[in-house]
This record gives sequence, structure tokens and C-alpha cells, in this order.
Amino acid sequence: MSAEGARLLVRDLAQVVSAAGREAPLRGSALGAVDLLEDAFVLCAGERIEAVGRMRELGPLAGDVVELDGRGLSAVPGLVDCHTHLCFAGDRVGEFSLRAAGATYEELHAAGGGILSTVRATRAASAEELRGAVDRHRGWMRRHGTTTFEGKSGYGLDRDTELAQLEAVRAAGGVPTWLGAHALPPEFDDRDAYVDFLLADVLPDAAKIAEAADVFLERGAFDAAQARRYLEACRDAGLTLRVHGDQFTESGAIPLASELGARSVDHLEATSDAGVRMLAASDVTGVLLPASALFLGRPMPPARALVDAGAAIALATDFNPGSAFCDSLPLVCTLACTQLGLAPEEALAVCTVNAAHVLGQADRIGRIAPGYQADLVLVDATDWRHLAYHLAGDVVYTVVERGSVAWERSA
Ligand code: NIG
Ligand code: FE
Repeated sequence: MSAEGARLLVRDLAQVVSAAGREAPLRGSALGAVDLLEDAFVLCAGERIEAVGRMRELGPLAGDVVELDGRGLSAVPGLVDCHTHLCFAGDRVGEFSLRAAGATYEELHAAGGGILSTVRATRAASAEELRGAVDRHRGWMRRHGTTTFEGKSGYGLDRDTELAQLEAVRAAGGVPTWLGAHALPPEFDDRDAYVDFLLADVLPDAAKIAEAADVFLERGAFDAAQARRYLEACRDAGLTLRVHGDQFTESGAIPLASELGARSVDHLEATSDAGVRMLAASDVTGVLLPASALFLGRPMPPARALVDAGAAIALATDFNPGSAFCDSLPLVCTLACTQLGLAPEEALAVCTVNAAHVLGQADRIGRIAPGYQADLVLVDATDWRHLAYHLAGDVVYTVVERGSVAWERSA
């Protein structure tokens, strides 16, 4: 909408809110500290935020300025979804029915369904179809205010499909994460042999596309020794490390992530008090995925204990066709406030600043402050907390990405 070089002025906003300060990741009491301006404006110049302030401080603007009317709306930073599996073909609605009738996620996986059923569909899709799927899913996420997203591979488990997934995420502007060690594909019967294959045949090319590597460290997936071997090789290839850990069982994910200097360990539904203490004493961010716990009827992660112990946490959707068919970070914020014991201010900080930290971008996204990328969500309420308060509500009115309107609700 804003022409190249023109400035975008979002004016007369009821509120503008952003995590206070410039630090990342935020921990402890700093998580709840926000800068809140009322009757305010945000001025974007090109792809960056030029100024934020109260309307009464807004002087005359020279030159070409596109104006957006913010009356009745509040602005929050563009939301950052730092953990998704959005590149997949097919769906698992049949398994959803089986789970509703009592089957568990782990039983379906052990019987060759679950992740492997999405692997079959994803392998059968062309590279063009995978790009189309990512674009479609990315569009769903944008309508809920996601302006930056990560996307994992892990539904190919062969060289070509894994690389095609990473390419599709990159082509859509996402942050690609190589999740080669997600499950054992049917053509292998030995997990160590599969890890050998991944490291010899896929890692050299995956490392050219991906920014991070991830492993599913869990009963029925990969054990700590296999995860260590995979992650060490990925680290040596220059990738940032992530771990899916403590989803069903505590299998050593937090000690391994701490020792290897991983950026994050994600899930944590099964984390004990000792795990909470160890994570809090580390530089690893705990990425909490309450939509996945909700969707599988599993316990929620110990978010309050983690924050109170001083751990850095982030929130994400885990968007995928099996454990979390959920593309909405506002819904995840609602779960954070109702199920995880976080205040709305804490929920906002962890799906903006701390999620940006997980993606290594906290110096340029996640805040509404001069110099940051001009990514904004205009919430359809005069109090920004409706973002979390309105359960599954249609709260997003306009999404601004890099200083241009990327989506707006039609009248
Ligand atoms: O984060 N737990 C492992 N991987 C995904 C689910 C993938 C799937 O079920 O397709 C998760 O929950
Ligand atoms: Fe996941």
C-alpha cells in the first residue's frame, strides 16, 4: 500500500504497546514490563519504524505520507511464530476422529500413522505443490497477525523432499529449520543408520538453506546419544540448534541442549522441577506450545515455574497437521493467560521479543520502536489485551509488514 520510499503514518491509535527496553531475551520481572502509549501514532519510513509517540507530539510531516486511520484500534508488534511445521501436504483429519474416539497420538505414530502419514503425503507432492502449501498456510498465519515465521522440514525424511521443504519455507520468506531427525522413515530399520544417512547425504545441502537444525528427542523417536551426534554435526556445519524435548517423557533434552549451547528446547510438557532449574540456569530458551498440549489433551508445560525461576521462554503455535492444527498466535496467547499463568504483557513479550531471539532476529523485529522493522498488528479493540482476552476472536484488523499493509480485514 505505501509506495516505495513513501512513509506510512498509522494515526489516532487508542493504544500502542511494546515490550520495554531493547534487551533480549527477556526474563523474570522484565517480561511483564511494557511501554504503553495512548492516543498515539506509529510512523514508518520504508521498511523501518521512524517514530512512535502521542498524537499531540506529532508535528507536520513533509513529503509523501500514506495515512492509516487507527481510531478504535490498538497496535502491537508483528507476532513472531518461532516453531511451526507449516510445510506439509494432506491432512490428518481421520486421525483426529480416531483420537476423539480414544486413540492416542503415540499409538497412532507407533502404528505407522502420525508423522509418517504426513511423510507419505509430502513425498508425493511436487516442489511446486509444497510451495503452494506453505503459501496457503503462511496466509492463514498472517491473518492472525504473524509477520515472521519459522518452518521446519521433517516430513520428507529423504534427501530431495527435505531439501524441497526447506526451499519452500525460504521462498515464502520464512526461517527454515532442518528437522531431518523427526522420525524413522520406512526404508530404514535402524535409527543410527538413518542418522548416518542424514549427516552424510543431506546435511551438506541442508546447511546451505537452513538456519537451524532440530531433532525430536523422545521415546519412539531419537534418543539422547543419537540426538547428540546429529546436533553436533549440525553445529559444526554452522547451524543453530533446536530440540523437540520433554513432550511425553524427560529423555535428557534440557541437559543436552544446555551442554551443546542450543538456542531452544521446545515443548517441555513433561519437564520436572529439576529440569525447570537447569533450564533457568542456562542460556537456552524454552519454547512453549500450549496449543499442542491442548490439541492432544496433554498436561500444560510449567510456564509459571519457568518464568519465576528466571528461565527465558517463548511461545509458538507448533502449527502442524497432527499435534497442533493451529495457526493462531492470539489463540496461543489466550492459552498462555488461561492455562499457563502468564499475564497478557508476558504473553506478548514471549511471542514477540523472545520468539525473535529464538530466530536470532531480536535486534530488528519484535518491538515497536525506532529502527525496528515496521511490522505491526492493529488489534480491533481500544485495549490491546483483547488480543489474548477474545478467545478465538476475530481480533486482527490490519497487518503491516515492512512498512506496507500485508493484510486487512474486509468490511
Ligand atoms: O512438535 N512432536 C514432534 N513433532 C511435531 C508433531 C508433528 C506431527 O504430528 O506431524 C510436534 O508436535
Ligand atoms: Fe513441533
